[in-house]
Amino acid sequence: MVELTTKIGDLVFKNPVTVASGTFGVKDEFAPYFDYALMGGVITKTVTTKPREGNAMPRICETSAGMLNAIGLQNKGVEAFLKDVIPYFRSIDTHLIVNVAGKSAEEFAEAARPFSGEATVKALELNLSCPNVSGGLDFSKNALEAKKVIRAVRAVTTKLLFAKLTPEAENVVSIAEAVMEAGADGVSLINTLVGMAVNLREKRPSLANITGGLSGPAIKPIAMRHVFEVKRKLRVPVIAMGGITTAKDALEFLLVGADLISVGTANFINPMAAPEIVQGIREYLEKEGVKSVGDFRGTLKL
Ligand SMILES: Cc1cc2nc3c(=O)[nH]c(=O)nc-3n(C[C@H](O)[C@H](O)[C@H](O)COP(=O)(O)O)c2cc1C
Repeated sequence: MVELTTKIGDLVFKNPVTVASGTFGVKDEFAPYFDYALMGGVITKTVTTKPREGNAMPRICETSAGMLNAIGLQNKGVEAFLKDVIPYFRSIDTHLIVNVAGKSAEEFAEAARPFSGEATVKALELNLSCPNVSGGLDFSKNALEAKKVIRAVRAVTTKLLFAKLTPEAENVVSIAEAVMEAGADGVSLINTLVGMAVNLREKRPSLANITGGLSGPAIKPIAMRHVFEVKRKLRVPVIAMGGITTAKDALEFLLVGADLISVGTANFINPMAAPEIVQGIREYLEKEGVKSVGDFRGTLKL
């Protein structure tokens, strides 16, 4: 039997496969397809202090090898999340990582605080980089802004903190370095890239928001580059995401050193993608005679 457990800080994940924020419903939407306990973890849709309606429709559209979305962080807010979603995950044997965002460092801390005493929540992912909110919510293009958020959240929780970064910063490695310095335990790479699509028949933008975040296989090489560079230069824990659709994709990210991987857009195409990837990683390592995922991780030949 291949050992798939993966340790970050004091937290042991049963396997390195998680699902990416915003691509896996809010609660039980995927439960008809498979048992969430098959995954190492679930990363929730972004939660904010107050409910948000999100952007006008249409807010998703398909593109070549991916999709654009401009959901605009629709969610029911922290209070409803604590009441409705947390109890659902209490009895599920997978690590729950709650993704939070705010319009300021203080608001991030306010959103994170209520989860700090929740045993069901194993870690927080801070969405420093949502591209689809008017006025922008991008704290991860600027090291000082990113640091402020991490410090504010670190002050209210001892949970493991992952800073989710944009690939559109001038120097992603330096932002990653800054957030680690400020008290993050790892980084999530990558959020979507801003793109646009046009509907020729209607002669309008495909999204009401005009621009949206590009995700899916189209962005995998960009994600790969950032994961590789951050791992090589900083050796800090990384959750990798960006176009991971098959076990082969996941294994490639593990090869460059990703600690965990997240399945995002692929969930919309194949709701079984995440458990199939767990099984595919297991089978590959078994076939290769590798005893544990730890022996495989970061073994890219240069
Ligand atoms: C429809 C949709 C909604 C998303 N919502 C969020 C979100 O609420 N918070 C967040 O941090 N990332 C969000 N993301 C970004 C994903 O978590 C992920 O970083 C990105 O899509 C890249 O991975 P992928 O190519 O596998 O989808 C969303 C992505 C999609 C496609």
